[in-house]
Amino acid sequence: MNQLNVLILDDEKRLTEELTEFLVESGFQAYEANTGREGLLILKKQPIDLLILDIRLSGENGLDILKEVKVKYPNIEVIMISAHGDMDTVIEAMRLGAIDYLRKPFRHIDIRVSIERTQKFLMLQRKLVKLEEKNSLISKNLEERIEHHFIGVSPQIREVLDIAMTASNFPDTNVLITGESGTGKENVARIIHFASKRKDNLFCAVNSSAVTDSLLESEFFGHKKGSFTGALTDKKGFFETSDQGTLFLDEIADMPLNLQAKMLRVIEEKKITRVGETHQVAVDFRIISATNHLLDKLVDEKKFRLDLIHRLNTLHIHIPPLRERPEDIEPLLLYFAEDFSTKLNKPVPPIDKNLVQVLKKYDFPGNVRELKNMTERAIILSKGRILCAEDFPVNTCSKSTSPVVNPKLNLEENEAELIRLALHNFNNNQVAAANALGIQRMALARKMQKYNICLLPAHF
Ligand SMILES: Nc1ncnc2c1ncn2[C@@H]1O[C@H](COP(=O)(O)OP(=O)(O)OP(=O)(O)O)[C@@H](O)[C@H]1O
Ligand SMILES: [Mg+2]
Repeated sequence: MNQLNVLILDDEKRLTEELTEFLVESGFQAYEANTGREGLLILKKQPIDLLILDIRLSGENGLDILKEVKVKYPNIEVIMISAHGDMDTVIEAMRLGAIDYLRKPFRHIDIRVSIERTQKFLMLQRKLVKLEEKNSLISKNLEERIEHHFIGVSPQIREVLDIAMTASNFPDTNVLITGESGTGKENVARIIHFASKRKDNLFCAVNSSAVTDSLLESEFFGHKKGSFTGALTDKKGFFETSDQGTLFLDEIADMPLNLQAKMLRVIEEKKITRVGETHQVAVDFRIISATNHLLDKLVDEKKFRLDLIHRLNTLHIHIPPLRERPEDIEPLLLYFAEDFSTKLNKPVPPIDKNLVQVLKKYDFPGNVRELKNMTERAIILSKGRILCAEDFPVNTCSKSTSPVVNPKLNLEENEAELIRLALHNFNNNQVAAANALGIQRMALARKMQKYNICLLPAHF
């Protein structure tokens, strides 16, 4: 903080002179005035941070001046001084916004301590304002980036964006987003949040399958310090964290049934009780959930509550797989090529006109994510020359779209076969294989263990 500008307003000239001298010696910029009029004139001309104000000036009431200053210059802090301080006046001064009160006669050290305390407070306040400004700038940037980042010219994507915009205009309505893995469900969820009036609050993304059973309740509802071993501090849960914002529940199909029941109650009541607490807290959130499963099927299998689906899918957005909207491939390819080149500090390579035709014949089991990863790899390997079909390993992969299915129709055998194929096609990259299969990486690892699948050397 730059030098603090202090104005001393007291009808005793001797006091203002002496104090001014002391403050200047202490490194402050000091101004003095002996009447209200004089003081207000200085306030008009100088960027005063702090006013030291006498409660009783001859013929004037310091409290009236305090009131006027607080209305005209709300950022100026005021320390009141008086020889006649009765309790009521002190209380009234504080109520009107004074930051401190000193009784005359005071020692220089007392006023200095009070000024320094106020200076610290002003410094923090200014830092906070700066942070808030920076914050809103960041979220504005993010908002712009996100909106421009959802690429697609197909009627299906236009419709997705259309419903997303409607959803952003109804910030209390729950939205369910379905679509295969890598189609951009989380992207759309963020677009809805950042285009809605909830945008200045948190977008809290939770992977429903990643929350361990034992911590489930405390993760979602929060807990009170000491309510169980390990609860070392009070903690907010996801519901409270998303207050005024958006709770994004990814992989909703993996949500355990006991949590589904609790979720239903919270959605209805919009109130939660932290673990170990007795009182309820009101929470205001909107839920956007996403899944790449068919929820109806899970309802039939009694793995998902029908009443919860009804609560979650007031608005439903389905993002079709990339193979059903081939016209989006070219703009996505151009966008990713430009984006990666910029990030890698390389010139954007020209694109062979045959490439888009080849890509359009491919099924993209990993959808946009797969195209994005392929483009990144191609940009790195092509070293700036023209991008062509050879840079995109779709020929090998396209076989994966018509897997060799065991005619015995044994589910487990076919599942194991599909996993082997996916691992082979993605060069043993388990994350990519899991994406293409539409399951979590951990689920893939479990299944590999179950079927005793080891990683064969790539390109066997
Ligand atoms: N239309 C699009 N425009 C630009 N980028 C996209 C588009 N669709 C998807 N992406 C990108 O593809 C990647 C995958 O998207 P996202 O994570 O939103 O998919 P998802 O449907 O949530 O997948 P999963 O079910 O596996 O979680 C992200 O990097 C995202 O930015
Ligand atoms: Mg996702």
